[in-house]
Amino acid sequence: MNRRTTRTLAAALSLTAALAISGCSSDSDSASGSDSGSKSSAAKPAMTVSGGYMPEPVNDKMAGAFMVIKNDSKTADKLVAVTSPLSDDLQIHETKDQQMRHVQAMEVPANGELKLERGGNHVMFMGLKNTPKVGDKVTVELRFEKADPVKVELDVKERTYNAKASAHTDGTAH
Ligand code: CU
Repeated sequence: MNRRTTRTLAAALSLTAALAISGCSSDSDSASGSDSGSKSSAAKPAMTVSGGYMPEPVNDKMAGAFMVIKNDSKTADKLVAVTSPLSDDLQIHETKDQQMRHVQAMEVPANGELKLERGGNHVMFMGLKNTPKVGDKVTVELRFEKADPVKVELDVKERTYNAKASAHTDGTAH
């Protein structure tokens, strides 16, 4: 896969975010008086992640991961990259018309959540360094455009496990 492109893009995205922030706070000769000193820390979103799991992978070629990412702030943010010791190539996938599609970023709405769930958005691991079994833990780090990175421990579950079993009855995706 094009992991180099993915990485470069993620790096470019975080650089853009950093530049935007510094550009804003150093904008001293503008006439706008709306900038107060305490604003920047209050505006930075913080993410909480719950229910993270990975269905036991069939082999070491690929695996999917699901979780709910909650943004309790008034600032919308974006999930821009995921890393893990288990794979050097993690991708953010959406599912449209039952087809997975690799996307560069996914919105985490202000005062809202991004749901990664079976049959929908998910994190995809390509080329696993080993094959985790039920009961194992897999660590991932989520990177955002604005919020600090979040480390998450995924529980490896049975292949049929579904956190929202009542909401989804089709067995699509992984
Ligand atoms: Cu996928």
